[in-house]
Amino acid sequence: MNFDLKTLSHPTSLSHKTDLMVVLQKSVASKESSQKSGSTSVLSQYLSTIQKEEEFDAKPGKTLLVLKPEPLQAKRLLVLGVGDGRPSEIRKSVLSAFKTIKTLGYKDITLFLDESIPTPDQALKLSILAVCDALYLYTKTKPSAKVDKDGKSKSGALASSELYVTFALPEAKSASVKQAFSQALALGEGIELAKEWGNRPANHATPTHLGNVAINLGKHPDIKVNVLGPKEVEKLGMGSFLSVAQGSAEPLRFITMEYKGAKAKSSAPVVLVGKGITFDTGGISLKPGAGMDEMKFDMCGAASVLGVFKTLSVLRPSELHVVGLIPTCENMPDGLAIKPGDVVTSMSGQTIEILNTDAEGRLILCDALTYAKRYKPKAVIDIATLTGACVIALGHLRSGLFSNNDELAHALEKAGDASLDLCWRMPLDDAYAEGLKSNFADVANVGDRSAGSVTAAKFLQRFANEFAWAHLDIAGTAWNSGASKGSTGRPVALLMEYLLNHSQVTPKAVKTTKPQKSSSAAAKTNASPSRGAKTVKASRRTG
Ligand code: BES
Ligand code: MN
Ligand code: ZN
Repeated sequence: MNFDLKTLSHPTSLSHKTDLMVVLQKSVASKESSQKSGSTSVLSQYLSTIQKEEEFDAKPGKTLLVLKPEPLQAKRLLVLGVGDGRPSEIRKSVLSAFKTIKTLGYKDITLFLDESIPTPDQALKLSILAVCDALYLYTKTKPSAKVDKDGKSKSGALASSELYVTFALPEAKSASVKQAFSQALALGEGIELAKEWGNRPANHATPTHLGNVAINLGKHPDIKVNVLGPKEVEKLGMGSFLSVAQGSAEPLRFITMEYKGAKAKSSAPVVLVGKGITFDTGGISLKPGAGMDEMKFDMCGAASVLGVFKTLSVLRPSELHVVGLIPTCENMPDGLAIKPGDVVTSMSGQTIEILNTDAEGRLILCDALTYAKRYKPKAVIDIATLTGACVIALGHLRSGLFSNNDELAHALEKAGDASLDLCWRMPLDDAYAEGLKSNFADVANVGDRSAGSVTAAKFLQRFANEFAWAHLDIAGTAWNSGASKGSTGRPVALLMEYLLNHSQVTPKAVKTTKPQKSSSAAAKTNASPSRGAKTVKASRRTG
């Protein structure tokens, strides 16, 4: 992606040379309802003349293409309607316009946000991200998407590396605009990385692959990475995480990443924990076949943490201290797989009766949450495609937000609103945990079907009692289904907005109600006749 920032006013825009000048225009209705701008510039008069001639109403996403825009040096002019200019309408309009523009073959494009566009910093950021979104192309296992057999690009579309996009604003030199520009570029890269790894099929995105992505990020001077395999995870006593991985031929990985900005030496970190199930068959509690391919997206929480670290590596914010933890493995049915009714011992010492092997996300996350304690974190946020029930509750617009801490919850809500990566807080009343009682362990991994996303969060909360904790259930927001099937890269934007602008508020300490531990918690590993055989198998595969 080749993006540039330029100062342009109505007068100077006339002599600006570009293949395609895209001018954002608010709708007539919104211009009339607000005060008439009364601008008499050549550009605004020209724009109003052609819009009248063509009866163009500038509704969001509507376009008007002018082949020879006389007063302008630009070869083509595209008037792009943005409705009332709200951030969400700007994002939507720019996204839909660029999905078309990229097929038209223009190499040098200028997007002009003139003084009529409200909240220019946010509008710029969202425009850049919308362009990134529109230009993203998945080619890893479909190289033909990029070029025809004769090497020419399809339908005149240029690869994003061949496109030059200039974002032009009246005050491009102001510190806040420059900051918005660099943040958006870095965020664009992080979101792209999250999308790309979310999209890759499970046989091209194994736990080992995700470990390697992290190791690559660890080459950056501000980022430390450590990738653990089955033996080390067993030593840590992560019996719950291990039990999910034991049905798979792919060895698990536990990825730890740490970013420390130059001025963040002694500050407590924010810990991000990402669910990294690279494929979720449900295990012995096998999922139905229809649509099961989409369970390759069950590592989108992990991908979002990798995306955040990519953004941090580009932006290098000096004040931030961020830790990323990713437990990653497959959930498979197998002769060695966990069975309904099996009891395992988590790293916390709490025993868990696994009543449904398809509720595996919480089983890998709980051990990572226990591990998070060692960082003495300011806050711990886990991100997981955790429950189908969350999709029923909130659909695809807002991620589910659960938290034991009001300050943290409010900060995340604000970050979601500002980045348009929305979330909605859900309840955590203790009564919701009733169904998780077990006769055979400290806790069961599922309750009945009601309020499924809340009981999942109640399960996790037992492992997060000693710090400010939030859980984002992204089951409905991490990917799109149907014709536009693909990862969204959410909630990288929310997380970065939180880290950059809302994580300064230190959450008040939470009152800790320690969950009771099993008296037999001394047994750190899970007795199972198949364990020995599995260890050999796993270490052979680990290499
Ligand atoms: N990865 C799924 C959640 C999921 C399902 C996300 C569908 C998006 C779409 C998770 O591991 C799972 O299977 N959860 C179960 C929990 C149930 C067994 C209590 C679910 O939601 O059905
Ligand atoms: Mn599952
Ligand atoms: Zn899952």
